[in-house]
Amino acid sequence: MEQDFSQLTESIKKYRGKPGILIPLLQEVQQIMGYLSKDTMAYLSRELDIPAAEIYGVATFYSMFKLKPQGKHIIRVCKGTACHVSNADGIKDALKTALELEDGEDTTSDMLFTLTEVACLGCCSLAPVIMIDDTTYGKLSPDGISRILERYAYEEGK
Ligand code: FES
Repeated sequence: MEQDFSQLTESIKKYRGKPGILIPLLQEVQQIMGYLSKDTMAYLSRELDIPAAEIYGVATFYSMFKLKPQGKHIIRVCKGTACHVSNADGIKDALKTALELEDGEDTTSDMLFTLTEVACLGCCSLAPVIMIDDTTYGKLSPDGISRILERYAYEEGK
């Protein structure tokens, strides 16, 4: 299905012809579209006369840019030192099992969750820590993961 780029008209107007705009432009576009598809980057390249390779280079260099559709809820698993030594791997494995994610997958098939790793969430005394959207969960054990996820699934009526 073709993506609808009409929502990007204002952004294109705002950034057209200005130097050094790629990062703020891509942030804004990602906020509007949810992620940066190849079609979106090609559209930006055409409209702003910026080489597609340059756009793609920036989008793939910075981890804040998402090239695939993201789940409704973003789960950040902290892999910083304090969390790592407090079984962050076990937490991540429990999440993958509960979300039924295969190796290499990060988003559930119902698009409810995307699982990602981060370096440190800034609350090391609560290790091991995850964040789901803006909510922090600390002092976790693998056994408690399903209960946390159930709340979100329940909200969706699943
Ligand atoms: S290392 Fe996990 S919150 Fe800092």
